[in-house]
Parts: sequence; structure tokens; C-alpha cells
Amino acid sequence: MWIRHGILLAFSAGFVAGENGLNGWLRYASLPEAQRQQATSIPSVIVALNSTATSPVYVAAQELQAGIEGVLGVKLQVLHEPEITASSLSVLVGTVAAYTSKHGARNISSLIADGYWLSVKAGSVIILGQNERGALYGAFEYLSRISQGNFADVDVVSNPDAPIRWVNQWDNLEGTIERGYAGPSIFFSDGLVVKNLTRVSQYARLLASLGINAIIPNNVNANPNLLTAENIEGLGRIADTMRPYGVQVGISLNFASPERLGGLKTFDPLDIMVVKWWTEKTEALYKRVPDLAGYLVKANSEGQPGPLTYNRTLADAANLFARAVQPFGGIVMFRAFVYNHLADWTVWEADRANAAVEFFKHLDGKFLDNVVVQIKYGPIDFQVREPASPLFANIPLTNTAIELQITQEYLGQQSHLVYIAPLWKEILDFDLKVDGKPSAVRDIVAGRRFNKKLGGYAGVVNVGTNTSWLGSHLAMSNLYAYGRLAWNPKQDAQALLQDWIRLSFGHDRSVLDTITKISMESWPAYENYSGNLGIQTLTDILYTHFGPGPASQDNNGWGQWTRATNTHIGMDRTMSNGTGNAGQYPPEVAKAYDNIETTPDNLVLWFHHVPYTHRLHSGKTVIQHFYDAHYKGAATAQTFAPAWESLRGKVDAQRFDEVLFRLRYQAGHSIVWRDSICSFYHNLSGIPDEAKRVGNHPWRIQAEAMALTGFKPTGVTPPEAASNFTAVATVKNGTGEAVATLNFPDGTYDIAIAYYDIVGGRAHYGAFINEDPLLEWYGDLEDRLGHAFSEKLDGHSATRVTITNVGIKKGDVLKIIGLANGNETASLDYVAFSRRELLIRKSLRTYSLFITT
Ligand code: GCU
Repeated sequence: MWIRHGILLAFSAGFVAGENGLNGWLRYASLPEAQRQQATSIPSVIVALNSTATSPVYVAAQELQAGIEGVLGVKLQVLHEPEITASSLSVLVGTVAAYTSKHGARNISSLIADGYWLSVKAGSVIILGQNERGALYGAFEYLSRISQGNFADVDVVSNPDAPIRWVNQWDNLEGTIERGYAGPSIFFSDGLVVKNLTRVSQYARLLASLGINAIIPNNVNANPNLLTAENIEGLGRIADTMRPYGVQVGISLNFASPERLGGLKTFDPLDIMVVKWWTEKTEALYKRVPDLAGYLVKANSEGQPGPLTYNRTLADAANLFARAVQPFGGIVMFRAFVYNHLADWTVWEADRANAAVEFFKHLDGKFLDNVVVQIKYGPIDFQVREPASPLFANIPLTNTAIELQITQEYLGQQSHLVYIAPLWKEILDFDLKVDGKPSAVRDIVAGRRFNKKLGGYAGVVNVGTNTSWLGSHLAMSNLYAYGRLAWNPKQDAQALLQDWIRLSFGHDRSVLDTITKISMESWPAYENYSGNLGIQTLTDILYTHFGPGPASQDNNGWGQWTRATNTHIGMDRTMSNGTGNAGQYPPEVAKAYDNIETTPDNLVLWFHHVPYTHRLHSGKTVIQHFYDAHYKGAATAQTFAPAWESLRGKVDAQRFDEVLFRLRYQAGHSIVWRDSICSFYHNLSGIPDEAKRVGNHPWRIQAEAMALTGFKPTGVTPPEAASNFTAVATVKNGTGEAVATLNFPDGTYDIAIAYYDIVGGRAHYGAFINEDPLLEWYGDLEDRLGHAFSEKLDGHSATRVTITNVGIKKGDVLKIIGLANGNETASLDYVAFSRRELLIRKSLRTYSLFITT
């Protein structure tokens, strides 16, 4: 027994028992022995210059105690003044002011609000914050260092790049989350704030460790009922729970609340009764939550009420709230996401990308000092690639913040691995060259470029009750990187990722290398198999925003147009012939985007309407680029699950299995994307793929070509979401059987079965070769993944299961049986055979050939 125990202990070094992701990157796993030995002198006591349990300094001490114990295995005592005795090796944490009053002045004049000074000298640690939460941030930085085995002496001042480092949740009062993919809300349920706020406290801890200083818990599409007395009390409880972590709470407002909740006849922002209503509500809120961060407002956007109803300006609206919160030190984040979603798509010059500048530019200088205009990073809506929003360059007299999306609404909804920090970095580093001077987006939102006091970051996170927070363990790198970039946007996306990997998965070199590789390849891969050359994520924008649906972009009022015809594609945003959007950028940038010669390939279809045969700088035509990129992207995605599998035994079991399941799903769904998009444009343009892959699947057996009983051929919508535009399905509650005699050469194959997994039931499937069972499975993805599901056979529900290493002989008989369940019919699209030997040989030559079936 003893020996077994010993082996177990050695084996589990670096793992924390029962890992389910709840602790995120704050696991404080014990360091491997070799690294632990580098801690030559360990402090012997923690001294906290504050003894109030709700103070971030107190929390910092608790955190230091837990962290040092977890990482180094020693539990240090926490002392509070005045018990403190002179101690040589201590970890001291407090504010500069508290330190100065006890120990004499310490001149750290370069500290600004929320900043900290961290000094580690021969095992003696001093962490001083400019304010209380700064001290907590410093403690987390020290813990991050030792968790990564870094015990080096250091003397560093760290200040945030911008004062606003907020997260937004899009949680509804009923407990659902708009564009949330990890279960119900941790904040709300049944119209009220939940009773048990444990998860809220754990969330605050994660946020604080990144330097996030405020949160908006409720959806921008806000429910007026948030302002009832009962819910104000609930918000108070949320604020009380998060305050010890230095995370302030703010709220999203429904602009029509005075009418919808208050019973007034109007919500005109200049009406005296409306002003009074908001003033009193604000007072009631601040009475319960004295440190309320402020308000977030989505007005006149996507059907939300706003001031334009009364011919008032957006500035009138923002200033109404700004005046209300000003006496309490609150701020108003006013969203620039204002556009007409009922636009006339037949008008060539119409352009949603122009809307923000059109709505806000003339208001520059009219916003009060405590208003911040919150701008999505690109002009449309969190697409896989967009240029930086031109609005950043157009309102120099106004405070601005950048809105980024951690929840992967258009980026695979956490069922696809997409590490987004490299995308954010491209935007933050982009130089808009306002007035011909360096004007990086990060310098504009920090307030530096235009000399503004306020500004910063808003990240839409949408964590849910799933213990992994975001539904996917690997997606947590995005939350981590977001917070770290909001603190210091100059940091390198890969370096941040690697900090996160070490903190989340330990110190094994192959774990670090593998997660780094697949994560860094993931955004380019997703861009390759979703939408290329600036055409946007070609998802179904009228439904779930998850799977492919390229036709849905055009011919509707939403304005995410691609202008695809059978000869041309792309939005003409030039000044001479198009929507003029290029001209919204400062002259140097405008000139570059206006000219197709100087527009980078990756944005060419964002700014230009060109024939499919247009040659890119790369030398390829647009259409061939589409085909090649989609094959390349899907091929890259095939490598993720095998790479992860090589880590078996090096990652704790639960997280290993859950990640593997998602990466395998992604492998299949990336092929759904590849085939749908290629097939759509192949069909539309009539231009063949030079490499003869598109529409040519000799290694597939189409379901409709099999001998069918119970299964009936059916079209799907959109048609290109089925191979050969046809699938087969049973009736509701029916049973289907599809049989084919195999005519492939003898060999060992991977067999992929393509079918559709819709909500409303768990169809049951079996695959057999010569009556020998190969695989049994269920259409139960809705129990295992969190993305938005579909009720139809389409690009969202299309999926594949793969059986590896199957020995096949010519003449073998393949049979697939499907049993419908509930509202889910059993369905089948095709069965694809990939020869193992060929795969391996081809993959050595070029990975774009890795899987073509
Ligand atoms: C997107 C998203 C909506 C959201 C909106 C917003 O359009 O799909 O769910 O409400 O952005 O940011 O306001």
C-alpha cells in the first residue's frame, strides 16, 4: 500500500486532484522538485497591512498563504498589524500609504492607481499597491512567478496601461446568457440574482488575478427589471461578493426603463420627469452599491430603444446618465455599436461599416468627461478578420474603449479551439496615423494619443456555470490573455499563452510545446476554413452564428454583406466607386485601403469588389485562394487532436478527455466548413479547383447512393451543407438502414461518418462491417458541447465521427443503422475512407494533403 501510494504521489506531481477547470490558472499546483529547489530562501511569514476581511489586502494575504502552500508545500502564518514583529524573511503586502505610516516613507512615485511595486530580495518579499487592489494585483503577480518556478530577485513597478479594464457579461435575468456557451448564468436565475454567489466570488478571484477592475453582469440587451428594489438589493450582494477582489460592479441599462418600469409616458432623455427618474434610480443604486462602477448603454441598436426616437442625439443620452453618476464618481460606457439593421441592401453605397463614424463623429466634443465610447474592434461585429474600426481615429475629443469578445460568438463558440490574442494584437498594434502621427489603437484607447483621462478595455466574456467557465478548458487562454493585454497591450501573444499553459497545465515541456503549437495555429486555421481575405466569418448570420451559411450574409438588412455574384465578390468600400468607407480612415491609411494594389490580401474583399479570377499579391486567384485556404485550414485542424493525444498521462484525466472530445469534434466540423464554403463558391462561380479536390470525392460513399431502408434522401438548408447537396434522414421516431458494398482496395482506413446532430433528441447509431460492430454512438452533442444548436439539418448540425484503423477488404459490406429519438431524426450524409498509409505519406509531403476525403 505504502509503495503504491508513493508511486501515485510521484506520478501526480503538478496535478491537483480532481481538476475540472474551476481554478483556471490559479491552481497553485505543487512545483516539480527540481524547480522547487531553486527557491533557496522561502519566506517564513506573511504580513498583511490590513486586518479587515473584506479588504483586497486581506484577500491578498489569504491568496499568498494558499498559493505558497500549494506551490511549495509550506503553510505560512498570516500576521496583521499590530501583531507584527520585525521579521527578516516575510512576504509583506499592503498599500503604499499603510506601509509609509508604519515603516516610514517609501518613495515609489511612479505608481499610478491600481499599480504595484514588487520587490523580491533573497526570499524577502514586499508587495505595495498604490491602492488596495493594486496590492492584490502585486500578490497575484508574485504567485504567478513562483507558480512558474521563477524565484529570481526582482524590483519592479507595474502600472496598468489604461484605467478601464472591464468585463461584460451578456447574462439575462432569467438565467440564460446571450452568446454564452458554458451553461446558465452564475449571476441570475428566474428574474433575480441567485442566492448562492460562490461562483461569483470565484469569478472575481480569476478576474482580479488579471487586473480586471469592473464587471457588468447583465446583458447589453438589458431588462428594465434589473432596476426593481429587489434586484438592486441583489446587485448589492453581487457587489459585496466581488468587492474584496477589487472588482467593481456596473450595470447595463435599458434606455426605455422610465416608461417600461417606471410607468412614465416617455423615455425622452431631455424630459424633466425622465431625468428625475434616472437621478432617483441612480441614487438608490449608489445607496446600496456606493462604489458602483457606472453604466453601460446600448441604445438605438438592433431594436433597442434609444434617444433617436425623440430626435435627441446619442450624446444627449450618454450625458443624461453621465450627470446622474457623476456625483458618485461613476462613468458611462456608451456603445458605438449603433447601426441600421433594416438597411436596403440594393443600395451599392449603403454600408454598415460606416455607421459608427456617421453616428458619432459629429458628436465629438459633446460628451461629458465621464463618458467613454465603447467601440468594437472592427466596424462590423467580431468577425474572424476586420480592419480596426475607423471610429478610433475620428473622435479625438472623446474618451474611448475597445470592445473585444472573449466568448467566441463568430469563432466556433468554444467548440473550436481559437486562440484570439494574436487577432487582438493586430488591432491594438495597428497604427491609424491620425494627423500623420503614430496612433496605435492601444495608445488611443489608453488615452495617451489624444490626452484623455479615461479609456481602456471591455471584454465580453460570458462565463457560465460549467466548471470550465467557458465550456472549453483551452478557451480560458483567451480570458487570461485579454486581462493581461488590458494591463499591458505590448505583451506578446505567445508569451502570454505560455504563462497561461504553465499555470494551467504544469511544467512538462511537451505540454507547453503542444498547446503552444495548436493554439498559435488555431486562429489562422479558423480563418482559413471559415472566411478568407476579409470576407468575414461566413457563418449563418440569421441563425446561430456557428456553422457555415455563406448565402445568409447577403440580401438582407443586417449589412454583413459580401456582394457575392457568380462572377464577383467583396464589398466595394472605395471612395471613388464604393461606400466610401476607406475614406473614414486618416489619409495615409485611407489611401492604402482605397487602392487594391496597397490593400493587404487578407483584407482585399473587405475593401474591394473583384472578380473571382482577380490575382492576389500572392499570385493566386481569389477563388483558388478560397479553395486552398479551406483545405489548408481544415488540414491543420486535423492535427490538433492527435497532437493533444500525445499528452495522454501528462494532463489530468478530466481535462484531457474533455479537450480531446472538442478537438475531435473540431476536426470533423472544420471539414464541414471546408466543404460547405468550397462547394458554395464552386457552384456559384462555376470555376473548378486547380487541385481537383472541390466537388470530387472518390473516397466517399454518398448516403443517397447506398441501399436505403427507412432513410429517405433529403435536401438540407443551405444545400452546400450536404455532400453532393443531398443527405438522407428517417422520419420522426423512424429507423433507417443504409448499406453499401465497398469497392476500395484492401487496406487500413480511417472511416468518417458524416451525419447531423440536431437538438430535441438523441438519435442512436450503429456502424457495422460484414455485420461486425464498428462503432455505436448517439446524436448527443448537445450534452457534451455548449455551442448554439440547430433544429435543422444544416451547417451547424453537420458533424462527423471517425473510426480509426479499420482493416477493409474489397467486397466488404458496410451497414449503418440509425434510430430517431424525440425530435431528432436519424440522418446520414456520407461515409469517407482515408487510407492510413497514404495519409502518412502525403502528410510528410505537404500537410495540405493530409486529409482530403
Ligand atoms: C452581436 C450579437 C448580439 C449582441 C450584439 C451586441 O450582434 O450577435 O447577440 O447583442 O452583437 O453587441 O450588442
